[in-house]
Amino acid sequence: MEAVTAVQLTKTYGEVQAVRDLTLHVPQGGVFGLLGAQGAGKTTVIRMLCGLTKPTSGECSVLGCSPAKDPAAVHAVCGVMLASARPYAHMTGQQNLLFFAQAAGMAEKAAERRVSELMKDLELWEERERPVSEYSTGMLQKLSLARALVNYPSVLLLDEPTSGLDYESAHALHALVSQFAAREDTTVLLGTSMMHYAQSICTAYGILEGGELVASGDFQSLREAAGCRAHAEFRLSGGESLEGFRPDETLATGLLEHNGWWRAELRDEEEMPRLLRSIVEHGYDVLEARLVEPTLEDVYKRTLEQHPGKEGTADAHAG
Ligand SMILES: Nc1ncnc2c1ncn2[C@@H]1O[C@H](COP(=O)(O)OP(=O)(O)OP(=O)(O)O)[C@@H](O)[C@H]1O
Ligand SMILES: [Mg+2]
Repeated sequence: MEAVTAVQLTKTYGEVQAVRDLTLHVPQGGVFGLLGAQGAGKTTVIRMLCGLTKPTSGECSVLGCSPAKDPAAVHAVCGVMLASARPYAHMTGQQNLLFFAQAAGMAEKAAERRVSELMKDLELWEERERPVSEYSTGMLQKLSLARALVNYPSVLLLDEPTSGLDYESAHALHALVSQFAAREDTTVLLGTSMMHYAQSICTAYGILEGGELVASGDFQSLREAAGCRAHAEFRLSGGESLEGFRPDETLATGLLEHNGWWRAELRDEEEMPRLLRSIVEHGYDVLEARLVEPTLEDVYKRTLEQHPGKEGTADAHAG
């Protein structure tokens, strides 16, 4: 059974088509990144999956359960972390988690064990007796993640879990998400515009733009579909110029200057040693040479360039 399925899922708000005709199949296991810029429809998809927003048309399910028809069944298997969810400020972190654990139907002892375990793993244990009103943004985000994990969900839906966090905290939180996913055999659907973090933890992706899914697959297949190649880069002694230097016609592009480095697109890795040898044979002194693989952000941008004319922008954060 698939972790998450959507078939022609559509949500319209007046004139705005927040999600259009979305068909998505996310298998169990791994971390699926739902990528998209501001307004692409990520939050709307996640809200429909957990039953908070009713689709205008089409269907979706989580582990075969329909949020529209059987929200209780979805909540039993699914944990959700939304930016809009707020814990009870006057209660302590621990009281909040115990409350949500019991609301999810856990027995008292089991809830206590799970809450302690999560608070320790997420480094909230020292803060357990402080009222949530005193929590920092980072502590609140972790508490929110703990809440989503409290009843051992099989599917975890996360919407921008690190918004508002600094680089270090965001990195740490993403690492925790991927640890939990592996340890507890949880499938994660991560809605994000932070390509850098997504690349470090996701096993597959869906790219949303203007409410439409423009591409999906693992990094390699998205990269191939977008035609993103590796680059060879060289720094020469004394700032020499490789302008117009084209050792052989197999190069996809000539050598171009880029931030003090000379770079050329490669068709395959084998071209790197050939190119390097040829530059040296032509009498240049190479101080540094490197092979630069495309990042998820490169692949994402190229994919959107290939789907022009849609709404939304290609601006995503490098993270
Ligand atoms: N309740 C609503 N009423 C009207 N329009 C809405 C509502 N919720 C979302 N939209 C619109 O739907 C579109 C998709 O919004 P959504 O919040 O799903 O995007 P997103 O990808 O989560 O963006 P962000 O990265 O900014 O969180 C946007 O154009 C938004 O303005
Ligand atoms: Mg959003």
